[in-house]
Amino acid sequence: MFSLPPTPEDPVFALNRLFTSDPSPLKISCGIGAYRDNSGNPTVLSCVKKAKEIIGAESQNEYLPIAGDAEFLRLSRELCFGDGSDLSNVESIQSLSGTGGLYLSLKLLKKLGCKKVYASNPTWGNHKSLTLNAGLEYSTYTYLDLSNLKTPEIDFKNLIQDLEGMQKGEGVILQACGHNPTGVDPSEGEWEEIVEVCGRKGLYVILDNAYQGFASGSPSSDSLSIRKFLSSSLDFLVCCSYAKNFGLYGQRVGAVHVVSSESKNVVDAMKQIARATYSNPPKYGSDIVKTVLGSSELREDWISEVGEMSSRIKSMRLAIREKLEEKTGTSWKHVTDQIGMFSYTGLSKEQVMKCREESVYMLDSGRISVAGVNEGNLERICEVIGKAVEE
Ligand SMILES: Cc1ncc(COP(=O)(O)O)c(C=O)c1O
Repeated sequence: MFSLPPTPEDPVFALNRLFTSDPSPLKISCGIGAYRDNSGNPTVLSCVKKAKEIIGAESQNEYLPIAGDAEFLRLSRELCFGDGSDLSNVESIQSLSGTGGLYLSLKLLKKLGCKKVYASNPTWGNHKSLTLNAGLEYSTYTYLDLSNLKTPEIDFKNLIQDLEGMQKGEGVILQACGHNPTGVDPSEGEWEEIVEVCGRKGLYVILDNAYQGFASGSPSSDSLSIRKFLSSSLDFLVCCSYAKNFGLYGQRVGAVHVVSSESKNVVDAMKQIARATYSNPPKYGSDIVKTVLGSSELREDWISEVGEMSSRIKSMRLAIREKLEEKTGTSWKHVTDQIGMFSYTGLSKEQVMKCREESVYMLDSGRISVAGVNEGNLERICEVIGKAVEE
């Protein structure tokens, strides 16, 4: 009865499984996009610990409304768009982290009659699966010049040309900041042009905001692209994740903010999708985020902790660059030019496989999570990469 061909494993989780089953004591994982401290351990932010103490045993396990916790959503909006923004056209729905927000958004686009959605080439692998799963066609727009990964610059001319080639009513996913996997974001002027073309072409825009705070170290500076869209008076959606910037990976806490003169109707349609999918969102994660953002003291702690995570990653970028330059005698400037959690190293698949033979794990594309690098494993990672590129 249940007869099915084998289903391919998700590449990021498959890599993690390979890493876990590797018996080598020297193994190092730079695969999964989750922050690790300088000892290689997952981090619980101290503001999160304090929030958990405040929530304590009093936390009620009642159902949340389908749209989620109203106060959490208000604070999430403020963070996403910046204090003082005019949010009169914005309504929100809580989501199962960033992935769940994208799910609701893509299902909504399907409901609106959209046929096809584009994401950047390259992008986070799940964009394609989510789009196809929502019953939409998937395609890509140019992002990087893939022929020269060692000078990571946006191929902006072709990016714009691809946006210009899209049809009215098609959808486009744009990563708001800290682009995964390339670590390269558009400049302010480039965002302005992107906003202009999206508006003129009548595209449905989904801003995927999974790394707010990780690009520059400052959550408010990282909302630049979102504020550019907000000031354009276009309709758009923003999917926020609190997995990375609060270290709440397992809690599945996020929000979708809808900017439109019809935002209430849009959120009502999304509520119907949510009700028929998981009924209502989980509560503990949004209680934590609400408690942190709602307290000026904890909020300040959070901002400085995000800054610390981001600056540890920046210092690892510099260390990787220096070590690799020393070992290979060639420039690795692109590693420090890139921002956010990831570095597109420029390694070929063959070189990636050589690293894997030495128990240093990264994605086939050559993407490393810089958050997985620390003072203890830096030397070995660079030695293995250095050898792989020289052979
Ligand atoms: C670009 C991008 N968007 C969205 C997500 C969703 O993450 P989550 O569902 O854990 O919030 C990720 C996670 O890696 C991502 O890299």
